[in-house]
Formats: sequence, C-alpha cells, structure tokens
Amino acid sequence: MMSKEKFYITTPIYYPSANLHIGHAYCSVMADTVARYKRMQGYDVMFLTGTDEHGQKIEEIAKKNGVTPKEYVDKVVAGIKDLWTLMNVSYDRFIRTTDDYHVKAVQKIFRALYEKGDIYKGEYKGMYCTPCESFWTETQLVDGKCPDCGREVKAASEEAYFFRLSKYQDKILNLLEEHPEFLEPASRRNEMINNFIRPGLEDLCVSRTSFKWGVPVDFDDNHVVYVWVDALSNYITALGYGSDDTSLYEKYWPADIHLVGKEIVRFHTIIWPAMLMALDLPLPKKVLGHGWLNFNGDKMSKSKGNVVDPSILCSRYGVDAIRYFLLRDIPFGSDGNFTNEALINRINSDLANDLGNLVSRTEAMVGKYFGGVLPEDREAGDFDDDLIATAVAVRENVEKQMETLQFPNALSEIWKLISRTNKYIDETMPWALAKDEDKKARLGAVMYNLCESIRIISSLIVPFLPTTAQTIQERFVCDKALFSYDNAASWGLLPAGTEIKKGSIIFPRLDLTKELDELEKLTKKPEPEKKEIPGIAEMISIDDFGKVDLRVAEIKDCFPVKKSKKLLQITLDDGTGTPRTVASGIAPWYKPEDLIGHKVMVVANLKPAKLCGVESCGMILAADCDENDVKVVFVDGMPNGAKIR
Ligand code: ME8
Ligand code: MG
Repeated sequence: MMSKEKFYITTPIYYPSANLHIGHAYCSVMADTVARYKRMQGYDVMFLTGTDEHGQKIEEIAKKNGVTPKEYVDKVVAGIKDLWTLMNVSYDRFIRTTDDYHVKAVQKIFRALYEKGDIYKGEYKGMYCTPCESFWTETQLVDGKCPDCGREVKAASEEAYFFRLSKYQDKILNLLEEHPEFLEPASRRNEMINNFIRPGLEDLCVSRTSFKWGVPVDFDDNHVVYVWVDALSNYITALGYGSDDTSLYEKYWPADIHLVGKEIVRFHTIIWPAMLMALDLPLPKKVLGHGWLNFNGDKMSKSKGNVVDPSILCSRYGVDAIRYFLLRDIPFGSDGNFTNEALINRINSDLANDLGNLVSRTEAMVGKYFGGVLPEDREAGDFDDDLIATAVAVRENVEKQMETLQFPNALSEIWKLISRTNKYIDETMPWALAKDEDKKARLGAVMYNLCESIRIISSLIVPFLPTTAQTIQERFVCDKALFSYDNAASWGLLPAGTEIKKGSIIFPRLDLTKELDELEKLTKKPEPEKKEIPGIAEMISIDDFGKVDLRVAEIKDCFPVKKSKKLLQITLDDGTGTPRTVASGIAPWYKPEDLIGHKVMVVANLKPAKLCGVESCGMILAADCDENDVKVVFVDGMPNGAKIR
C-alpha cells in the first residue's frame, strides 16, 4: 500500500442504563476484530465506540438512585470502559453524548437543519400520563393504561420540533434499491423497503419539552433534542464535525462500516442517511446489521435473570476464550444462542485440543529433540508439500471471509491449518524419527515445518485472539516482523537457530460437569421482583413511608387566594404552637366557612412551595372521588398535633 488507506468503523453508542451483557460484548468484539484485521492489513483505522447518555429513562433512574443524571452516567460509563479494556476492545475514540464538543456540535446540526427548513416546529400527539409526566404511543400502552404506573392516560399534545423525514422518502428508497451494498444482509434491506419505506415515511419528532436531560435546543429553551439527532450525530461529531478542528472528520468520514444490531438498522439506514442528505454530507458506505445473542434460546433480559456477564466469563476462562466463542459460533447476521455448555465445549475442542495441543506438543518436541533450537539440517519428505500448500493459502481464504464479516468461516479457515498441522504430526511420527539417528535431518524438517505453521497461525489469529497470539509469538525468539500480515502467506521465514521456548498450557482442558456447576453458581440471580399491584403506584419501603410526617391539624382560618380559582389559604393549628399556612386546591368543592373548626390530616414536613403568591407549608390530604369531586379527609375529634402513622 503506497500511502495508508483509511478505514472507519463504528459500534452503536450503548445506553448506560444497565450493566452491559454478553450481547453487547458480541457487537464490540466483532467491531474490534475488524479494526484489528484492517490495522494488520496496513489500513489507517479509526474505531469508534461510546455511550448514548441522554433521555428521560436516565433522568428517572438517576432520580431513583438519588444522584444527578451526570453522576449516574459517569459511574456506569466507567464500568463500560473497564469491560472494553478487559475484552481488548481496541477503540481509537470513545464518545460520550454528554461530552461538551458533542453537545455543541449537535446544537449546530439542529440549528442548521432548522434554518434549512428540514426541522420545523409542530405538535407531538400522544397518550399522556399526568402523574408520570410521560407521553406514550398507543402501542406502548398496556391494556390502554400507562405502562409505568397502570393509571389512565389521556390524549394530549406538546409542542415539538420535527425532522422532515417524509421529504427524503424517494431518495432513501433509491439508496437502498440502487446501492444494495449500503445495507447487508440483504434480508434486512427488504424489510426496510417493504415494512418502512414503501408504507410512507412520517416526519420524526426530534425534540421534547417533558424532560430536561438532553442537549438543549439553543434557540428554544424549553426543548431538548430527542434521541436520534443526538445519538446518530455521534459518528461525525466524534471526528470533530461541528467543532473548530475538523481534520479527523475530513480524513475518516464517510464511515466504511456502521456495525449495528438488527433492531436499530432502521434508524441507521433511513433516518441517518436522510439527516446526512439534509446536511449535504456524504453517506456511510455500509451499514451491517447483526443478529441477537440469546441465552439458552431466550432473549437476554435482566428481569428474566438470564443476563450473561462477560466479565465473569473472561476472568474464569480468559478473554480470548470468550472472544473465540462469540466469533466462532454465530454466522454474521443470524441470531446466536449462548449456552454455558456450548462455550465449554468450544473451549475444549477448538482451543484446548486443537490449538493449545499443537503449540504445546511442538514446543515440547523441539525442546526434547533439539534443545529448543530450530536446526540447520533439514530434509524434506512426505506430507510437507500438502502442509505448506495449506498454510500459504490460509491468509487469502481468511480475507475472503472477512470481506463479508463471516467470522466463523474465517476462523474455520485458520482451524483447517491447525487440524492439518496436527495431522502432520500423526503422519510424520516424530517420536519414531527420533529413535533413528539417520532420520535426524528429517526430524529437523518436521520440527521446522511445525514451527512455521504455528508462526502463520499465530499471525492470522491476531485480530480474533490478540492475547493468545501474543503469548505464542513471545515464545519464538525471533524478529517479530515475521508475524506480520505480509509474511503470513510465505513459507520458510524462520531462520535456523531460532529458539522456541516452552511455556505453560495456553488453554487447559475443562471438566464440563464441574464448569456447568460453577457457572450456575456464578450467574447472577435476578433481584426478587418488586411486587406490583395493578393500579397502585410503585412500592416504597417502610423507611420511605416513615419519612412522611403526617399530623392532625385544626382549620383555624380560611379564605380564597385572590389570584386563583382553585386555591384556599388555610391557617392550621398543628399542635406545635406556631400557626401553619397551607394553600390547598379545594376551592371548587368547599366554602371557607364550611371548613373552619374541622380537623384534617396534614403532611407536616413537605418542603414549602409558593403557590400563587402564598407560601404553602404542607399539604392537606383529600381524596379524588371522581374526576369532578374531591373530598377532604376529616378527622374531627382527634387531638391537634397527633401523629398519624
Ligand atoms: O440501541 N445480542 O443502545 P443499546 C446482540 N443507544 N446485540 C445486542 C444484544 C444482544 N442480546 N442486546 C443489545 C441503542 N445488543 C442506542 C444506539 S446508535 C447511534 C444508538 C446490541 O445499548 C444492540 O443490537 O440498547 C445495539 O446494536 C447495541 O447492542 C446497543 O444497544
Ligand atoms: Mg436497544
């Protein structure tokens, strides 16, 4: 390659809403393997990953945890980075959508689209749950009720900005039809065209006013950018698009591969190209949609308790065993199934038996027969040509498979050479040659060929099993350039005199029954599900309830609040000796004179709030009897200040 060609690959940016599981690791490991493969081939690689940190969900989880959204995501993101380090995910950049440069660039993009007329202000219509302050679509509702709290929802609308996606319908259809290479596998392309594009693209809601945790629309304070304009832009903002320094953007955009899970192919092949068209930017070259990893045949989910934690597996079996399983077992594009048994069997057969054995037998024999040094005297013989022909052909076969990201096939091409080499040992029977001093040169050639084969194998497994490759290569005391991609299709490069050190076993054989037992113990059981009662708000603990200071109080004085139709200003004797003022929204149902002298329940430790100019200290309990009737809970006859618990 004259000057280095660039190659830009991305993973999706992950939601930091939970610990990542083996399904997420699957995506990152695939992207990492491609990145490493391309680097090995001599490309100038940019490998981007990151986290998608905004939105109402994060805002809510943080609140539940009693921290700010930023504090919450900081912690989760640190864990995600640790996982990628553990799994040898060699990203070049890690973007967080909370990064300042991203926020600014998204604001610029939003504004540019608005000024162009491709973003306009409209009305978002949906089903609204008042207590939860959330909009839901019809399909999200459960039995027509709020999926979060189970209460009634009502049709409502809020002001929102929309992206004119409909305008790009023909162009997007054309993109998918005329450029089949844009989206693979082909089955996903048909799904996009028939299920989404042909039925008609609707304009997309791209801002919200109902929550705050998002990129603020800089020309309209009430709005934050909603989901996709924020998330998808990461692929260009990470390169400096929209900042003062766009050199990386100039160099690496358009992306060569966006690697994404099947459920977000739609956003990457419809919304994203439309956004780029609107911005007059080049489109990514390829979107590749991968399948899902299931566990024991079931979709992984936290509540099912079948989430496989990759860090547990990595620490028990080594990261390469896990990478190998993920890459070897699932044809690209299909769903895969993770089972502990399949993992252990793979480790035993392919890694311990085939690869591990080849390496340890060879090291042991070179040690025993030649003191660990490759001999000068070598005599060619039967089976050599076939071994050599197999070995020098592997690189090209692997490359063919990697063009379409068929990792299982690429690995199986390498494993063909591993098997061929193991067979070569059986065929040449070095232990028999060693008994005959006349066969010393033949034995020398056999040892040499085994080492050459291992040299090529260890060069080609680098992108898939980087740690293992390094472990093997360190045992060869030679110029490390011999392990380059360039040298992986040539034979006879190890010089005579090369020392081969003997090391420990790379992949020890595992006892299946014992491991299955251990893994069962290590798999996190789900937290006991919080009991939920339909129509009842989320459970709280006795401690939570204990925080509420409820008291009996007598209404001493009462009159309407001037600026309000609903509020009454009420003076209470709560037994403390200091009169308490409360503003209560019960004016439509009670006349002041009907209230004075009665006793009510008051939340005495509610933080004061100003309501229509009245400082309200506490809240009087009342029942919503129906939509148009509210009744105060009277507790006449009880002493003022009595605590209710
Ligand atoms: O969708 N098997 O984030 P995410 C395989 N933030 N892949 C899986 C998987 C499984 N069991 N579970 C999840 C988002 N994934 C957005 C993306 S991009 C601009 C914004 C994959 O954390 C999933 O398919 O929900 C997706 O590609 C990726 O993990 C991130 O999912
Ligand atoms: Mg998702």
